[in-house]
Amino acid sequence: MQTITITGGQTLRGTIRPAAAKNSVLPLLAATLLCGEPCCLHSVPDLADVDTSLALLQAVGAKAVRHGPDLCTLPVSAADLFGEIPPHLAGAMRSSVFYLAPLLCRVGMVRLPLPGGCRLGPRPVDIHLAGLAAMGARVELEGEAVTLRRTGPLQGTDFTLRLPSVGATMTLLMAACCAMGTTVLRGAACEPEVCDLARFLCACGAQITGAGTPVIVIQGRRTLGGVLYTPIPDRIAAATYGAAVAAAGGEITIEGCTPAYYQAFLQFLRDCGVQTVLHENAVTLLRDPQKKLRGGQQLYANAWPAFATDTAPLAAAVLLEAEGASEIYDHLFANRFACAEGFAAMGASCRVKGRMLQITGGAMLQAAEVKAPDLRGGAALFVAALAARGTSVLQDPGHIRRGYADLAADLAQLGARCAVQCQPVRR
Ligand code: EPU
Repeated sequence: MQTITITGGQTLRGTIRPAAAKNSVLPLLAATLLCGEPCCLHSVPDLADVDTSLALLQAVGAKAVRHGPDLCTLPVSAADLFGEIPPHLAGAMRSSVFYLAPLLCRVGMVRLPLPGGCRLGPRPVDIHLAGLAAMGARVELEGEAVTLRRTGPLQGTDFTLRLPSVGATMTLLMAACCAMGTTVLRGAACEPEVCDLARFLCACGAQITGAGTPVIVIQGRRTLGGVLYTPIPDRIAAATYGAAVAAAGGEITIEGCTPAYYQAFLQFLRDCGVQTVLHENAVTLLRDPQKKLRGGQQLYANAWPAFATDTAPLAAAVLLEAEGASEIYDHLFANRFACAEGFAAMGASCRVKGRMLQITGGAMLQAAEVKAPDLRGGAALFVAALAARGTSVLQDPGHIRRGYADLAADLAQLGARCAVQCQPVRR
């Protein structure tokens, strides 16, 4: 198990560039199964979830190789693909769900044991399944596994998502590219990563209009080729660096990620008193460590373009020492604030009430030994430790590397005092 030691009180300075977005790269890797020619994704970070995706691709018979920062996949004939997703890979990440549509299309059947991922509350896949069923898939549920089969090709359909699920929109985009005829998705998610998947599929030959709006129209049955593709930068990593400088103080520039991708988080930082200077494809953030941040914030995390749920724990970390009580409500996930226990161990006064985190504010954070409960909660505890007095120890049973290749190295590059130690697993 990894532990990360973080000594708070160091101001941050420098320039940093987020790598490609995890939540784009993972569905794109699954989508390469639909492509009849090689694909190459640029600047893919070395994340645990990317390793899991590569293992999953290999397990179903596909070929993917890393060339430095790029990941390249080779086309595979349907006869060489298997539709069985191994339980240990399905259980290692939520994104195993992205393999449902491509394997159903290519192989004719797919069996997915329960997908894993952060324990953020119930994360059903009913919308993915309802959409695929509307295209003609037969859905068999058996215990915690789902098997999908098709007898003929999937059929284009007019489908309304009961809520704008990012993952289900991506599943149905992929399926609709292989379906016969036109598919209309209504109530679709509008997140930048959905647009990125649509752009990737179009670059491979798909015909999709309306991505980024709630109504997406897909003309199916195009043969997909290959592409050299640069996924969008990771807006959640960018927000994490922003939260870090807000907590620790200093001046950093986050480049290569358009501020529009995380404008709600930047607005939050401004409301707290962090100065933001916007450039075309970068933002400079300044926070005077001598001045208290402003609390008194009411944040409501919801689907794009609202405040992003993944940035809610990061905002909480920033607000612990700010002047005035704040509340953050997460509309999407029931258990977003499992990191509150770690905040409390550092001396913060905060309380989880249902989906809401109430923060008293004005804390003087002290170093503590804390445990990352999930990916973004772990990053939030890291951020809080940057503001705390003394050296905190963050135990991370593998969560943070699922979404950040090396968060400690990123922040150390900006002047944070932090280091990763690997401890042998106790038996
Ligand atoms: N939902 C359903 N049924 C479904 C699908 C979703 O009820 O079939 C519910 C979920 O339970 C949740 C809400 O809809 O309450 C939103 O879920 P969504 O499907 O939009 O999220 P996701 O696709 O599971 C992706 C990201 C998450 C991010 C959310 C919201 C990936 C791999 N994950 O999850 O990222 O929080 O969208 O933006 O793309 C992370 O990076 O740490 C992370 C959790």
